[in-house]
Amino acid sequence: MALTLPRIDTITKAVALASRAPSLHNSQPWRWRFDRDGLKLYAEPQRLIQATDSGGRELVLSCGAALDHLRAAMASMGYRSFAERFPNPNDPLFLARVEFVRSGYVTDAERDRIDALELRRSDRSPFAPPAGWSNFETVLRNTLGSAVLMTVLPPNVRADLARASWLADSSRRYDSQYHSELHWWTGHVHDREGVPPQMLPTAETSAKVPIGRAFPVIDEAQPSDSEPSADGATVVVLSTDTDNRPDILRCGEAMSVVLLEATMAGYATCPVSHVVELPSSRSIVQKLVGGNVLPQVLIRIGAAPAEGLQPSLTPRRSVDEILEIVT
Ligand SMILES: Cc1cc2nc3c(=O)[nH]c(=O)nc-3n(C[C@H](O)[C@H](O)[C@H](O)COP(=O)(O)O)c2cc1C
Repeated sequence: MALTLPRIDTITKAVALASRAPSLHNSQPWRWRFDRDGLKLYAEPQRLIQATDSGGRELVLSCGAALDHLRAAMASMGYRSFAERFPNPNDPLFLARVEFVRSGYVTDAERDRIDALELRRSDRSPFAPPAGWSNFETVLRNTLGSAVLMTVLPPNVRADLARASWLADSSRRYDSQYHSELHWWTGHVHDREGVPPQMLPTAETSAKVPIGRAFPVIDEAQPSDSEPSADGATVVVLSTDTDNRPDILRCGEAMSVVLLEATMAGYATCPVSHVVELPSSRSIVQKLVGGNVLPQVLIRIGAAPAEGLQPSLTPRRSVDEILEIVT
């Protein structure tokens, strides 16, 4: 197995694709460095969303998704990647070092996954149930592996999830730091970060998705007539044994796998995390999942809206801002 150092333009393209990864409030809390030792991924603590994610759990989840996106991008360009996670125990921000081997053959699935990576976006509208779920779930479980526990919640726990969501929102009613942060990340037309206001659900749409995060309400756009009257999404929970950073990084990678596989299957998706940000609501989700594992993130998956009704893609920081090349 001969390690190879890919060309700079290959790495630059892969890092640009990796930046399509989802992140809490589109904060994009990652930084890459390419040198003779390979490609290195670092967390960006300045991009921590302090009041929402004080421990940086969602920051590391977001970086895990970027790492899996990077590997998918490199695979589509003919490279297998080998990631060493937390290579320096003294540097908690140094999340992974990735090395590459030429793969010699790119499969159709690897190409399709890149199309999905460029197409995927978080959709906060209600979904019709995902058709063909059980076959999809079987394939997804095979692809996911066993590092992270994936639980598919049955529809009869929707009321419990809605209660967890209500509890999370209600507990933060007077948390001015949380709300000012949420407004800052969603309220402005930021250049290349944050959730643009047009991506936020209207009050009517929000009411149909009781497990969604309560974003500042915009009422400019009308929900489409074809929007389902209630959310029939399948809800998947990803959990880990601990809240240690290596487990969370792996969980972020698994989140990316679920989102990309679901997009490849033609489904719409949206991560949901406010219900696991506070201990009271997190413990409700933990009971639904069963066992002693710790729920890290939920993902709603459902039928994709009709052509032309999907939300637009959110912007990203430019690759020059996030990639340092040391030759
Ligand atoms: C760890 C994490 C938590 C997230 N939590 C939520 C959430 O609670 N509600 C929501 O609507 N979107 C959530 N998202 C989705 C982000 O808002 C979204 O990824 C970001 O705005 C970029 O947009 P995109 O996914 O359309 O590319 C989350 C994403 C990540 C990675």
